[in-house]
This record gives sequence, C-alpha cells and structure tokens, in this order.
Amino acid sequence: MNTDFIPAGAPVHRRRLSRLETALVARRNVLEIIPALSYRQPMVSGEMLMRWHMLADPGGMKRVMLDNLANYPKSEIMRRMLRPAIGNSLFNAEGADWKWQRQAVAPVFTHRNVVALAPAMTATAERACQRLAANGRAEMVTQMMTATFDVICDVALSGREHFDATTFSAAITRYFQTAGRASLLDFLGFPLWFPRPGELLAATSVHTMHHMVATAIEARRQEAAGGTADDLLNHMLAARDPETGQQMTPEELVHNMQFFIVAGHETTALALAWALYLLAHAQEWQERLRAEVTAQLNGRAAGPDDLAALPLVEQVLEEAMRLYPPVGLLARAVLAKDELCGRTVQPNDIVFLPIWALHRHEMWWEKPEKFDPGRFAPENRRHLNRYQYLPFGAGPRVCVGADFAMMQARIILATLVQKFRFTPAMPAPHPVMMMTVRPEPGVFLNVIPA
Ligand code: HEM
Repeated sequence: MNTDFIPAGAPVHRRRLSRLETALVARRNVLEIIPALSYRQPMVSGEMLMRWHMLADPGGMKRVMLDNLANYPKSEIMRRMLRPAIGNSLFNAEGADWKWQRQAVAPVFTHRNVVALAPAMTATAERACQRLAANGRAEMVTQMMTATFDVICDVALSGREHFDATTFSAAITRYFQTAGRASLLDFLGFPLWFPRPGELLAATSVHTMHHMVATAIEARRQEAAGGTADDLLNHMLAARDPETGQQMTPEELVHNMQFFIVAGHETTALALAWALYLLAHAQEWQERLRAEVTAQLNGRAAGPDDLAALPLVEQVLEEAMRLYPPVGLLARAVLAKDELCGRTVQPNDIVFLPIWALHRHEMWWEKPEKFDPGRFAPENRRHLNRYQYLPFGAGPRVCVGADFAMMQARIILATLVQKFRFTPAMPAPHPVMMMTVRPEPGVFLNVIPA
C-alpha cells in the first residue's frame, strides 16, 4: 500500500556521548541513549563505570531470555526504579520468589479466563465511543487510559468504588516522572544504598496509589466470606505456593495489585494511542481496516467471537507495537562469563535489551521506518524470527498479561474505527521513554463520525 508517511522516531546521536551527556539524555528520554550503530549492528559495547552491551540481535535475545536465563537477572538499576511502588512483586522478583508468584497469578490469565473478561472490554469500548462522540478533537492517550483503566478495575477489583481514576492516573504520571527517571547518581557511580532524589520525590505518589489499593483490598476482606467475585484480587487472596503452602503477605498483595493496575492499563492504552496516531496518518490502511470491521460488526461493538474475523485489527496493533513498543528497553545483569553475538560478556556487565532498536533494525526489517501492517499478515509473519519482535518479551518471563492486553486492544480498536474516522491534529507527537514509550505531548486527533 502506498503511503509516504514516516512515523515519528527518536533522536539518534551519531557520536559517542560523555558520561554526563548520557546521564542528562537518559533523564530526558531513555530512547536517546541508544547509539546509532544499534540500529545497524547486532551488539554495540562500551564502558561507563561498568561495561555495557546494547543487544539488538534475535539470537542474543534468545540466549538472554530463554537459553541462559538464570545468568541474566533483571538489572538492579531498573528494579530499583520500580521497587518503591511494586516492591518484590512478580515483575521485580527473581528465583524461587518469582516462581511461586508466577504460578499463583498465571491461572487468572489463561485464554479461557481472558475470554470470560471480554464483556467488560466491550462495554468499555462502547463508553469510549460515547465519550469521543462528544468531541470533535481529542487527545487519545487520555481517552485510551480512561478506557483501559475501566477494564483493569473491573478485572482486578470488580469495580472502581475505591478508585478515583483521575487521582490514580496523576499519581502514576508523577511516579514515572520522578522515580522513573534515570538517576544522575547511577551514572556518577554512587553506591546503590545511597538514596536517589527521584525516590524521595516519588514518595507522595506511592503513598496515594498504595492507599487506594490497600483500601480496596481491605474492603474485599470485610465482605462476607471474602466475596465471590471471580476477579484477580480474589485469586491473589487465595493463591498459595504449591510447594510450601505460603500465601501472599498484605504487603505483597498491595505491591502485586499495584503492578497489575498500572501495567494492566498504561501499556495497552499507549499501544492503542500509537495505533490511532499511525492510522490517522495512513488513511488507506484506516479505510481498509474500517471495511473489515464494518463487514463483521455491522454497527455493534466488538466482542471476543469477532476477533478471528478481524485479522487486520491485530496486524495494525502488532505493527504499532513494532514501531512504538510500550516497553522500549529492558536491562539485565550478568552473573557469569558468557558469549553473546560472538563477544564475551563478564560478570557485573550490564546488558541492555533495546526492544525499540530491535524493532527498527536494518538487518531484521525491510524499510524499518515505514508503517506497514502487512508485515504481520500470516504469509509474512511466518518468516519472522520469534526473537526479532518482542513487545511482550519472551521465555519464562514473558508478559503474563499479553493475551489480556491484545484482546482488550483489539476489541477497543475495532469498535472505535467502525464508528469514527481519525485525522491528525496539532501538535504532532514524538516518542519519549521514561518507564514506557509515551507520545509527547499526546496524540491529538480529529474525530469524525464515519
Ligand atoms: C500492550 C500491553 C503490554 C505490554 C507491551 C507489556 C510488556 C511486557 C514486557 C516486555 C514484559 C517482560 C519484561 C521483562 O522481561 O523484563 C512484561 C512482563 C509482565 N507483564 Fe506485561 N505488558 C503489557 C500488558 C500487561 C498486562 C495487561 C498485564 C497484567 C494485567 C501485564 C503484566 C505483566 C507482568 C506481571 C509481567 C512480569 C512477568 C514475569 O516476570 O513473570 N502486562 N510485560
């Protein structure tokens, strides 16, 4: 399909940055620390206090995420940014502590359970349409956050009685802007025990979020017989380590629920907002998508049974997450000497996994800068290496909510595109990564009844 539109990219620095420059750039936009070479070579290495490697190679990714997983735990720098909010809950945990939490949570996200949650997603999609119908022009990140927040409250806590969405969202944003910013002290080699200013500044937002989550948990405990809702909270309250019988402590519960509520809606909303931005600029794809959706839905909102007949909806979302992976960069520590891309990595090195660069890499993608959902058509998809496209990660630590996120995003996107035509409005967004890849200052679109 012909379109000259080149989606917004991140600034790339062609010369090596000094330590201070890297620190300042990382605080502004983590995507900017990815060197230009990382879009052309499998692995780029350098030294800045410690040896680092920027790995953008499918074979190397497989080694880190699957074949030699135990050698590459999550890096302390990343875990530290999240710890005030989510402690050592599933996303941050390692070893036995991770394993039992994963076993406890996984059943909630089986395909069968996710399908059972779909009516909440359809209802949300309808409400999002009503809100958009009242606006000729709208900012899509806010709109999509409201929609996905609705769903996660339903699924995590069976409702949002104890949640004021605006207060909670403001606290999340504040957290990302404080604890979520790379700390200068990390780059200047301050010891890990030394408090980072971001953590101190984040304390109020953490308190706000934890208080809301804890109130909701307490309310559930007060319900007769713990309540009967088949939601995430009841699963977590009942979860036991299969080997020791151990249950989650109140603190672990708050941390896990906190993570689910944030991860469960923020990332999906970003994927949707970026997809709408791309479609607004690529009208041919938008028309094709609308034709597919209208033929299947005939005016009603989408449900789980429609999705098999809507392959293009999935392809558009996959392509949106190729260009704008909500989780754009991960970091791992190295425990023992190993080899990646023919090069030795040593204990205490840090291995960055720039999903962003992997998805825009000249060696793995044809015309990587172009928006082309056709890459994910079945006949093309089968030629993709499993480890060249990693919006949800891979291996044992793959995103537990991937199925949930994709179902929710497909239902919402299909329903919206049937009802509205989207065209670009100003200002244009550019990608900025703090913890997630967000469009700044937002995705402003004209919303026209289709
Ligand atoms: C578009 C939406 C989403 C994206 C792009 C995404 C991305 C990711 C990625 C890349 C990882 C792996 C991190 C790593 O290896 O270090 C991950 C892990 C995880 N995600 Fe998601 N996620 C999304 C939605 C969700 C949802 C909806 C939930 C739950 C409600 C969720 C819960 C988790 C959890 C608990 C983990 C940690 C799993 C483990 O370590 O065992 N995510 N996610």
